[in-house]
Order: sequence, then C-alpha cells, then structure tokens
Amino acid sequence: FHVDTDPAQAQKGAYPFYMLKEIDEQPGVMRNLIKEYIAEDGSIKIDTDLLKAMADSDRIYIVAAGTSYHAGLVGKELFEKLIQVPTEVHVASEFAYNPPLLSAKPFFIFLSQSGETADSRQVLTQVNQAGYPSLTITNVMNSTLSREATYTLLLYAGPEIAVASTKAYTGQIALEAILAKALGVYKQIATIKDFDVAAELTKAANGMQELVDEKGKIEKIAADMLKDTRNAFYIGRTMDYAIVQEAALKLKEVSYIQTEGFASGELKHGTIALIQENTPVVAIITDKKTANHTRSNAQEVKARGANVLYIVSRDLATPTDQIVLPEITPLLSALVAIVPTQLLAYYASIQRGYDVDKPRNLAKSVTVE
Ligand code: AGP
Repeated sequence: FHVDTDPAQAQKGAYPFYMLKEIDEQPGVMRNLIKEYIAEDGSIKIDTDLLKAMADSDRIYIVAAGTSYHAGLVGKELFEKLIQVPTEVHVASEFAYNPPLLSAKPFFIFLSQSGETADSRQVLTQVNQAGYPSLTITNVMNSTLSREATYTLLLYAGPEIAVASTKAYTGQIALEAILAKALGVYKQIATIKDFDVAAELTKAANGMQELVDEKGKIEKIAADMLKDTRNAFYIGRTMDYAIVQEAALKLKEVSYIQTEGFASGELKHGTIALIQENTPVVAIITDKKTANHTRSNAQEVKARGANVLYIVSRDLATPTDQIVLPEITPLLSALVAIVPTQLLAYYASIQRGYDVDKPRNLAKSVTVE
C-alpha cells in the first residue's frame, strides 16, 4: 500500500462495496505494518526520541473518537499488560472539558484514521498549549492531527473509503502493539522479549485470511439472525468487552439495528430486561479467565429466549460454537475476533438493501464539533 492516495488504490475493483474490499485488505495491512516497522533482525524502526518522550512520562492518555476510541481501549490493555504503563482512554469530545490530569508528566496519543476529527483536534490544541508531548497514529500523511502533534506514526493501510472503519481499527491496534514492544525494549522490561510482535501480527494476518475466506458462512448467519430484528447485543468481558463495543458500532452504523456492546457481567443489573424471544445476542469469548462467566451469561439470555451466536477462540471453543477464531495471543484477539463482526455488519446492511459504504447521516471524517 502507498501512503499517497494513488487513484488505483482507491478504486473498488471487483468489489461491490469499499467496506468489503477494506475488510479483505486487513491481512495485507498487518503484513505491511511488519514490513514498515520491524526489521529482519526483529528490531523496531520507531524514532528513539518518541520512545524517550514516552519513557519519561508517567501516564499515557489515549484520545480518540468512534472506532478509533475502540482501538484505544485495546491499546490500554497492551500498554498496561505488556509494559505496565498506566494508560487512560478518553472519548475526545468528553476529554475536551479538561478533566483533572492525574499525572505530572502525561504523554498523549491521538488515534485517528483521517487525522482531521474536530473533537480530537480540539484536544490536541489544548495539549499543545499545555506543552505536553503527543503522538498521532493516523492513516493520512500530513493530516492536521499528524502535523500538529510532536510525533506521527502512519498506518500505511491505503485509503479507507467506506464510512465504517475496518482496516484502520485493526491497523491502529497492530501499531499500538508494535509501539508497546518498542517501548518495552527501550525501557528494558525483561518480559517484553517474550512478546514476539512480528510473529503475532503474522498469526493475525493468517487468521484474518482464514476468516475472510469463510465469509459465505457469515453471510448466511447474518440472514438467519439479523434479517428482521430491530435490536441486538454483543456481550463480553475485559478485552472482549472492548471488542464488543467496536462490533456494536459497526452493526449500528451500517444496518441501523439498535445494538449495544455490553459488559456481560452487567446484564443482570437491569439491561437483561430488554431480552425477549429471538433477540440476537453475540457472545465474544477469547480470554480463558472470563470464558465460563460469559458463557453462563449467554445461557441466562438464552433462557429468556435470546438467539445466541458464539464467537470463540479455538482453544476455548465447544462443538456447538458457531464461529471459531484462529489462535493468537489473547492480547491481540481483537485482530481476529472483530473480522466476523465486521462481516456480520456488512451483510446485515446489504441484506436490508442499504448503501453500506455511505450510511445515512454519517460522514467519513467528522470535521465539525
Ligand atoms: C467508524 O466506523 C466511524 N466511521 C467513526 O466512528 C470514526 O471512527 C470516527 O469518526 C473517528 O474518525 P477518525 O478515526 O478519522 O478520527
């Protein structure tokens, strides 16, 4: 993929819609990030000044909107679990009201596919005025958020045309993993040597390829499960709770099905009252620590008539789980778990006859506050 938007790259080619093309491009995005950032000897090509600035800070603030915010939720897990750096993730439009910074030396990371989101730009202006260092991770070279931040890392994912962001989400997560690895090496964190980011991203690429190759199966599930429904739930815990929030946004914004990405342990505190006969509920299970709990929550909603779909990691799967995910480290399970949910959203939308690339009332880049 070239960073400049060469017209050929932005064409649909044989695809009916850009969203499907961009879902299919995700294995390539993983391989391209490895090529751009990881040398043959496994060393990572990220500016030492950036790593020093991050190592000098005592807390990372990730600021983003929409799908990029959801990529930040996974980034928090990576930074905290891999290199024990306290990390907060904030929706840009909320953070703009100056919450107390619980940090003397904060470092800001802006995640933005377009690099033009007004909510995020507003925060970066405040961050610059305060004199804090910042990094923008974006897919668009020379975008405003890229130019105005102290540092930039590019996704090199090729133009993302569909309003619903797919390859930028997985690209951002992959690049956060590469950055966490580089920072761990820089800070000489002993355990970081056990995280072979190139191997894991290669597994992600292969796993994504397996999943996009079985898209016909997802198309059928969408028709069986989502055709006539007005609402749906995605449920999960911890990392899976981060994933279900992105899965829900995808389905909402292209099919207009009212969908919640919900903490499965929280259902019993009220929201389970919404479950009725045939309500679609998708349980995402990629973490052995929470697998049994989420399964029992899925049983509870099934007992109330819900139509439950299981999306489960191979090592945790049972014979009745409908979608089994290829093996990958749990910290990067979002890279494979999100693919069937992107496809479910895509098929639900076209099965309803909508223009999946241009959902009603939405713009690709929200450049107004
Ligand atoms: C994602 O599918 C949406 N199109 C939207 O939420 C988007 O992620 C959000 O507007 C942020 O855009 P950005 O990544 O370009 O900043």
